[in-house]
Amino acid sequence: MIRFHNLSELQQWTASLPSNRAVGFVPTMGALHEGHASLVARAVKENDEVLASIFVNPTQFQELVDLDRYPRTLEQDCEVLERLGATAVYLPTENDMYPRGFQTRIEPGEGAEWFEGEKRPGHFTGMLTVVLKLFQQTRARRSYFGEKDAQQLFLVRRMVEDLDLNVEVLSCATIREPDGLAMSSRNARLSETERFESASLWRALSAAKSAFDRGERRASVLEQAMHDVLKATAVEVEYASVIDDLTFRPPEPTLDEHEHEQCLRAILAVRLGAARLIDNLLLGHA
Ligand code: PAJ
Repeated sequence: MIRFHNLSELQQWTASLPSNRAVGFVPTMGALHEGHASLVARAVKENDEVLASIFVNPTQFQELVDLDRYPRTLEQDCEVLERLGATAVYLPTENDMYPRGFQTRIEPGEGAEWFEGEKRPGHFTGMLTVVLKLFQQTRARRSYFGEKDAQQLFLVRRMVEDLDLNVEVLSCATIREPDGLAMSSRNARLSETERFESASLWRALSAAKSAFDRGERRASVLEQAMHDVLKATAVEVEYASVIDDLTFRPPEPTLDEHEHEQCLRAILAVRLGAARLIDNLLLGHA
């Protein structure tokens, strides 16, 4: 597997590729786990070449401590990518992304107003800006994102559509531990008891899904089902909400019946010890 240590090495490669080679792109921040691996494995199946990137993007972190303690496991990550059959990994320098004088940013719309956008001010501006730069630098035509970060995926799709970007966005199902906890590099921060408690996120999402499957459609009742599970645990709930998947906002009783068919998703964010965990589950059409 080839390693590109900066933008110019990447650009030499992209320039030398025959135009008919399909390149699948998987952006990451490293500390790769099975969730990332599933994206890469799918990209390998669907493309001639697979390019992953590893860049811990400072502009999408709010707290310096969070950025500082973000795990960095480059050698291990490269082994994982190579084993999965990736062609190359792009390791941009901070200067490749934010050279002196850098000042232009992507401003997300209403889809970023709530939830992660509200709890982590500036996060989505930093994320979208770096994703757009990575799309441009890699000239990717196909890119892979996890459903685990549902609001991120929603906003990337919006950006691609709103700014007429020539890249396909493919979403991949969330990979979970046997007890349902979504894989995340942040899980490593959980103590043994916290790790045990963390299974309550999946139980809460499952409770909302069971209520939905029994015919419940009121967001407030579905949300209560999640809160009922979580209140019996040590997690501190930031939000446990039901959203309209087409707007990433709380569902609104549609005035105009023809506006759009609503599709509901349960989403939650909690604090547990030193970790902040997010997860979500698609409920279905309302
Ligand atoms: P990172 O957190 O490293 O995640 C990279 C990709 O892996 C994202 O698309 C994320 O949704 C996906 N992913 C994470 N955990 C997953 C799981 N358990 N199952 C399936 N997919 C999972 O997301 C980012 O990095 C950054 O914001 C980035 C897009 C790279 C921009 O900096």
